[in-house]
Amino acid sequence: MAGVDWVSVNSIVCFILAAFNSWLFLQACYGISHVEEHKGLYKSNGVKGVGGETCVGGAEGGCQEMDIPRLVRLDGVKVGHIQEIELIPGKIHKIETVNMKPEIFEIPDFLSKEECLHIINLAEEQGLEVSQTHLETKDKKMRLLDLNGDKMLDMFEMRRTIEDGFDVYLEDVDIRTLYDDLDMDTNGDEIITNQEMNRVTFRGLSEYIHQIIKAQPTKKSRYSEQTWVYPDRVQDHVVDAFQDRIAKLSRLPQPLIDKFSFFQVVRYGKHGHYNAHHDSGNSTELQCCHLSSTKNCRICRFMTIMVYLNEVEEGGETAFPIANNETYDDHTFRSSGQVNLNNNCAKANFSVTPSPGKSVFWYNHFINEDGWLGNIDPYTWHGGCPVTKGSKWIMNRWIAVSPDREMDLSPL
Ligand code: OGA
Ligand code: FE2
Repeated sequence: MAGVDWVSVNSIVCFILAAFNSWLFLQACYGISHVEEHKGLYKSNGVKGVGGETCVGGAEGGCQEMDIPRLVRLDGVKVGHIQEIELIPGKIHKIETVNMKPEIFEIPDFLSKEECLHIINLAEEQGLEVSQTHLETKDKKMRLLDLNGDKMLDMFEMRRTIEDGFDVYLEDVDIRTLYDDLDMDTNGDEIITNQEMNRVTFRGLSEYIHQIIKAQPTKKSRYSEQTWVYPDRVQDHVVDAFQDRIAKLSRLPQPLIDKFSFFQVVRYGKHGHYNAHHDSGNSTELQCCHLSSTKNCRICRFMTIMVYLNEVEEGGETAFPIANNETYDDHTFRSSGQVNLNNNCAKANFSVTPSPGKSVFWYNHFINEDGWLGNIDPYTWHGGCPVTKGSKWIMNRWIAVSPDREMDLSPL
């Protein structure tokens, strides 16, 4: 409905819906009340329009028919496009589209320098612990990645097997040392047959690799320290202000903002890095978690909002290795070594330079036909390049969504 002030349309809708006492619609109206001052272009699977779509989806051009809440994504339009948003009353922030495949956005001063310091102090007071990836924590079962099916593992297949099983990224020279130390490669041909594989137990191999990690932690896919901040536990005005900005920026229903509201503060020291990954679980074996349960399921993160908290002296860019790569294919990418940002950051197609208070955000999933969680966007492969001088602090806020819309939209 071009030219119609959607705030007033929304108020009428809320009024009618309140009369029907529908919790779902009331939730939607509640969500909308946090974003009314922003006139950016958000889309919900092809439904374009200025404002309102999270409350009423449907017809081309915006709010016409009543519907249940839909997810929305900010439309990047084109690289260099700037959209304004009032995240703090009386202050306009600028959102710049910095990439289109995937759509990546930056807001230069999302947090003030004082707010950044405040968050760093909060994290230091809580204390940080070594970051682990889901691969490090899951039950271990090693798959031998015999990619060409010849019942043997060559150097490349062994490297991929160790990456897949332990989240550790070794060089050929490390693998040769491993063969020597564990006396595996009996004829020295750098090819491991079934018989040679049987010379070690899984436990023996695992212990050996954990020794490597201890001596050379930079070989891990993720080398950093972190802590989780729970807004309801810390009672902190900067954390509350951050939550409010996330709601305004994302224009997603408030229950999605409130559930899983905790965020991560991460510190990378020298050589700290995080190899390329997707922030949302893309396993086909597990269902996305309902927001109220986290057992035997994967957390699906619709949106990632990252904020850089300090000035990094050198390195520490956030790299998107396959951005804009028209011929991307998962297998070729994984085999290329480019996942290993510790070595191959310079090859990344797109990267974002840290700057204190700058936010970078993107959507890990598309929106499906029903206006809810769609497929993962494979182009969102990303990670943190090694910090070569100084340290790097970031905060990571994810907005998780499950396939159960009604459950996700129910109040806490
Ligand atoms: C993450 C991440 C990138 C960076 O923590 O999930 O992708 O630049 N970090 O640190
Ligand atoms: Fe990430």
